Amino acid sequence: MQFLKRATVEIDRDLLESLLSMATVIEARDAYTGGHTWRVSRYGEELAKRIGLDADGIFIVRVGGLVHDIGKVGIPDQVLNKQGPLTPDEYANMKLHPDLGRQILARHPLAPVVLPSVTEHHERVDGKGYPAGSPASVYGKLTAIADSFDAMTSTRPYRKGMEASRAIAILRENTPAQFDPAYVEPFVELWEKGALDHILGHANDQRLMLSCPSCGPIIAPPEDAKSGDEIHCPSCKGSFGLDALGDTFHIHFKRSLETKPTLMPDKCAVKSVLSCAKKKVHCMH
Ligand SMILES: [Fe+2]
Repeated sequence: MQFLKRATVEIDRDLLESLLSMATVIEARDAYTGGHTWRVSRYGEELAKRIGLDADGIFIVRVGGLVHDIGKVGIPDQVLNKQGPLTPDEYANMKLHPDLGRQILARHPLAPVVLPSVTEHHERVDGKGYPAGSPASVYGKLTAIADSFDAMTSTRPYRKGMEASRAIAILRENTPAQFDPAYVEPFVELWEKGALDHILGHANDQRLMLSCPSCGPIIAPPEDAKSGDEIHCPSCKGSFGLDALGDTFHIHFKRSLETKPTLMPDKCAVKSVLSCAKKKVHCMH
């Protein structure tokens, strides 16, 4: 996109907060996402630092990771929340989300900051990605690695997340066809030295994801969770009590709800990105 080639964007804090709040809508629609956008944002940030991007680049990847799946708001519930593999037609539908995101954000003043991650996170180096074929920017390439690693290591009700070591091996197997080797190896190095451990399986730097005893580890405890609180699984009707256990919680079944609970946006992720907001960002794609 020509208009994204070079831009200096003033970051209005209120505008950024409203954009990030929009992005949390997807956490409130997708029952199984459980902190995915936060983890993609944080994996991307660590990788951006590791490869030596400047502060502007790191910020672009951090914000882009949180917003990258915003186009999923246009994907029907029966596809987005399907408990099983997608049919070819459903998959074709799902593949529209990067371009839907582009259309939603195209005229947004902060578009140059977030569109690379939004539009390019399913692109492939060999040109077989979508919607364009191959990524144009380093930001899109970093978000693609972060997104794929989190998708593979996250448990969904119909399939258990794989071991991080297996996901790392798959990233390598798909390099250089899918991913850029210049960025995969630094990501592997980060993982090998344990620098991603505080993100893996977490919904926040302090919050470890909890296991729903019925359907899998996809409950993100609220930021202010404490012993005695009751939390609901977003995908089954289980309601559970929390008992503090070190820096996490033990979870025990309390009751079955009559209807599925209302999903909540992840306000904590918005706050964490706002805390590193810059005044001005130079985008060079
Ligand atoms: Fe996506």
